[in-house]
Amino acid sequence: MPDLWQDAMDHAVTLARKAGEIVKDALQNDLKIMCKSSSVDLVTKTDQNVEQLIITSVNEKFPEHSFIGEESVAAGEPCVLTENPTWIVDPVDGTTNFVHGYPFVAISIGFAVNKMLEFGVVYSCIEDKMYTAQKGKGAFCNGQPVQVSDQKEINQSIIATEFGSNRDPDAVDKIFSSMRKILCLPVHGIRGVGSAAINMCLVASGCVEAYYEIGIHCWDVAAAAVIVSEAGGVLMDVEGGPMDLMSRRVLAANNNIIGERIVKEIEVFSAVRDDAPVNPIK
Ligand code: IPD
Ligand code: CA
Ligand code: CA
Ligand code: CA
Repeated sequence: MPDLWQDAMDHAVTLARKAGEIVKDALQNDLKIMCKSSSVDLVTKTDQNVEQLIITSVNEKFPEHSFIGEESVAAGEPCVLTENPTWIVDPVDGTTNFVHGYPFVAISIGFAVNKMLEFGVVYSCIEDKMYTAQKGKGAFCNGQPVQVSDQKEINQSIIATEFGSNRDPDAVDKIFSSMRKILCLPVHGIRGVGSAAINMCLVASGCVEAYYEIGIHCWDVAAAAVIVSEAGGVLMDVEGGPMDLMSRRVLAANNNIIGERIVKEIEVFSAVRDDAPVNPIK
């Protein structure tokens, strides 16, 4: 059967590589850093330029497709996924890392049809790792198959999470108490590389057992969700059940045993990660 979306997938890989070169070149120059909702919510000219490059190219090659991108969703506007073939793009995942030269920065391109993810491309450009996956065809890093870890004991696992950009003391207390039980198990370690997409690709590669975050957006996780699931992992909601791409919560795990154990231990506070502009921009 001809593969309907192979063309789009190949194009996504080409675009991710091109974008990665732009990101790496920009590291040598003035990054033109700006703030969005707060002084710790950063964006650079490169985030905007890369998104524009991807939108323009997708519009030219696939004019009937829709597009959701972090830098083109208007602040405060709801982000709507329709049944139309849709590119879900984070032009620079790990902007804070990028600004600081911390070497985990990804271009993340996911693609959904009828609200179902079909393929994902995550290019960790400084590491030069191109993660790719297409539904039913396995997951790869630089062309080599990747697989989740077979660990079933949470006590022998590494769990990844991120702490967000809310600096309000009460919110910070809630974030830490939400993971207190997990830390007490005790797991081998808690990690977080500053890019949701790369955290998830580390789950897919088998070196981290699970990653969870409350407050992410669809563009952070769409591409990597396909990579995790094609690597044999599971995508869940932090309170159990399947992940809803638009719910702003994700739990990616190597298997259901680890996933469900985290669901049992984590305390979910709905206001844990709202990323409110608590640090007014001065
Ligand atoms: C952020 C990163 C970070 C995660 C945040 C995301 P950005 O994306 O993925 O790891 O904790 O929730 O917003 O803003 O750097 O594209
Ligand atoms: Ca951002
Ligand atoms: Ca992101
Ligand atoms: Ca981004």
